This record gives sequence, C-alpha cells and structure tokens, in this order.
Amino acid sequence: MDTIHPQKIAQGGPLVRFADVTKSYGDLTVLDRLNLDIEQNEMVSIIGPSGSGKTTVLRVLMTLETINDGVIYVDGEPLTHMPKGTGLEFASEKYLRDRRSKIGMVFQQFNLFPHMTALQNCVEAPMKVLGLSRDQAEDRALDLLKLVGMEEKKDHHPSRLSGGQQQRVAIARALAMRPKVMLLDEVTSALDPEVIGEVLNVIRSLNSEHSLTMIMVTHQMGFAREISDRVCFFYEGKIAEQGTPDQLFDDPQNERTKQFLHAVLDAN
Ligand SMILES: Nc1ncnc2c1ncn2[C@@H]1O[C@H](COP(=O)(O)OP(=O)(O)OP(=O)(O)O)[C@@H](O)[C@H]1O
Ligand SMILES: [Mg+2]
Repeated sequence: MDTIHPQKIAQGGPLVRFADVTKSYGDLTVLDRLNLDIEQNEMVSIIGPSGSGKTTVLRVLMTLETINDGVIYVDGEPLTHMPKGTGLEFASEKYLRDRRSKIGMVFQQFNLFPHMTALQNCVEAPMKVLGLSRDQAEDRALDLLKLVGMEEKKDHHPSRLSGGQQQRVAIARALAMRPKVMLLDEVTSALDPEVIGEVLNVIRSLNSEHSLTMIMVTHQMGFAREISDRVCFFYEGKIAEQGTPDQLFDDPQNERTKQFLHAVLDAN
C-alpha cells in the first residue's frame, strides 16, 4: 500500500471522520470508499436496506473490525492508524485499546454481562480501563443509572430485567466510560413494542439535555426524523443521499432513497 499521509483536522473540526474507508470481506465490498464527517454534538441517523453496511460502519468505528483502506479519525487523531515517520501505519492492538474508550456502543441484542448486577455492569470497565477507584466508579454508575431510570434495579441481574430495562442499563454502561461519541445499532428492534418508548425517551433526553454526539442506526423512521440533525441513507456501502430529516424524508432526490422510503413507510 502507498504511504498514507495523515490529514490535519483543525480544532473545532469534525469529531469523527471517515476518509475513503473501504471494508471488505473476501470479495464482498461492504464499505466502498466511504467519506463521512460527524460534528461535535451532532445526532446522525443511518438508514438503508439490509446489508447496506450500516452495522459495519459502527463496528469499524468501535474498532471491532479492521478496515482495508482509508483512515478513520476521532477527536483530531487517527483511530485506525498510528503515526510512523511522516506517514501512517495500521494501529497496533495497544494503540487501539487506548483509544477505544472514546467510543461507546449499544447493540441490538442486549449484551450485558449476565453474571453481574446492573451496577456491576456499569463499574467494570471504568475501573479496569480508566483506573477509577470502586467508589468513584460506583458514584458515576449510580448517577447514570438514575439518568436512565434504573437506580431502583441496580442490584438486579440482567435475567431479572425486561429487554427495555436491559437496554437502558446498556446505555448507562456505555456512558460510564464518558465516550466522545455514542453508537446505537437498532437498539429497540429486539424489544417488545410496549417498552420501546422508554428506551427512545432515554435517547431523546441524552440528545436534548446532554448534547452527546451520537450515530444511530435505526429502522424507526419517525424517531430518526424527530431527533436527528442529519440522516444518511446508505446503499451498497456508500452514502447514496444525506440531508436534514425534512430534506431526506419530504424531498428525497435519489431514486434508491425514494424506493426505500416507499417500501418502509408503506409497510407501517
Ligand atoms: N463477519 C462478516 N463476514 C462476512 N460478511 C459479513 C460479515 N459481517 C457482515 N458481512 C456482510 O456485510 C454486509 C453488510 O453487513 P451489515 O451488517 O453492515 O449490514 P446492515 O446494513 O447493518 O444490515 P441490517 O439492516 O440487516 O442490519 C452484508 O452483506 C453482510 O452479509
Ligand atoms: Mg445491521
């Protein structure tokens, strides 16, 4: 590969930048020279058909998957690469470990540690990774469990919590690392309809009262429309179209976007 030269990201520039990012599995190109900037405090929704690369975008940003080409930057510095001479080389596991805590992710499937209580789930990483004392970590965790309305269930194990309650703990657990950016991958799609609202309310309040930077993959068009600053429509590993919710939902320009919106909105 040719030497990659790092981009200078100005102060106050985007918090996250995908620069020509390609991700493939064998012959299958899942992200195809993707360019995407996310500004500080921005709430960006990603929509698009199944298999278009939405989850992959979040997984490579979370460093759960390596990319094949391009560079991802977070907070002004390369995430996927580290400096070598005047260029960049792929990051080592240690380099990634030091940066991964800047990013928090909540998945579709509840993935709390089953053998730990809600509170223990939230103190584990801040103690191990950030080096907080148990008291500090518990104070922080209790504040966050309160924020998501789960303080009364702090001593319960996940098996005694509803799906909606588990997702709220998972959000608190991710926030406990004070991430610069939160990634949400269809966090309500495995939930029973009656508890979806409580999780959406938490996301709504994080967005309006705590001005977090968030990237949310969702099939809930109404919610995406309500809370997003920007909506990106993915098609075959690229952003086929993006804009404000009003632009994208009321006046889509791309044929693929129109077809997709017809299909999902007709289905509801
Ligand atoms: N570990 C993997 N190995 C091989 N192919 C993979 C792997 N993970 C994802 N893919 C493929 O990459 C493509 C994009 O997957 P991705 O999960 O990003 O889609 P998505 O847009 O999130 O879809 P959905 O709406 O169904 O969740 C799919 O074709 C998928 O089969
Ligand atoms: Mg997905």
